[in-house]
Amino acid sequence: MNTSSIRIAPSILSADFAKLGEEVRAIDEAGADYIHVDVMDGHFVPNLTIGPNVVKALRPHTKKIFDVHLMIAPADPYLEAFANAGADIITIHPEAGPHLHKSLQAIRAMGKKAGVALNPATPVDAIDHVMGLVDLILVMTVNPGFGGQAYIPLEDKITAVKERIRVTGRPIDLEVDGGITPETARKAIAAGADVLVAGTAVFKDGPAQYANYIKALRGAA
Ligand code: DX5
Ligand code: ZN
Repeated sequence: MNTSSIRIAPSILSADFAKLGEEVRAIDEAGADYIHVDVMDGHFVPNLTIGPNVVKALRPHTKKIFDVHLMIAPADPYLEAFANAGADIITIHPEAGPHLHKSLQAIRAMGKKAGVALNPATPVDAIDHVMGLVDLILVMTVNPGFGGQAYIPLEDKITAVKERIRVTGRPIDLEVDGGITPETARKAIAAGADVLVAGTAVFKDGPAQYANYIKALRGAA
């Protein structure tokens, strides 16, 4: 495990929505690697957040990677809008349907990186036949929908995904999302995580602490 390559992706779901541009600049300056954008539709998950227009409005505020996590079903009708809005990575859930392989092809055809997100109960087998098409695999350690939930210990699953990535020989990010704190970050990293998403653990005490909290997560290993 090369812990110096751990990347931190603060989830703006926990930011102050009344000043999102400022918040994105603050986490950029505080050392965020990716900007994680949680998109929810009130249907695939029981919460509503933001759409492509917000991503577009945020794009001029940072040059960092926009890591857009789509918790929406269907996702296909919105892929182009998020790509045009400035997403760099677009991650979808297999359950969003109807054809995961085709959706990943569509994301890559627009020149974007493609990700697949696995809910806690979604088996790792869901990615078996798309490994050649993914740039990121996101292992959810909470049920999607809300920030601030308790981490579900799925280290065995993280390790199983890591092994599937290893055999491809391709540079695929293994991202872990949900309930990440310095304590749980340590477990996720030990199990194989390369990228940690963190909402509450970064944003909880306001901008003065963003750099400290990002550093704490990065150093958790
Ligand atoms: C949950 C989202 C996560 C979440 C992380 O549906 O995908 O990105 O906001 O928030 P914390 O770090 O507070 O669990
Ligand atoms: Zn997320």
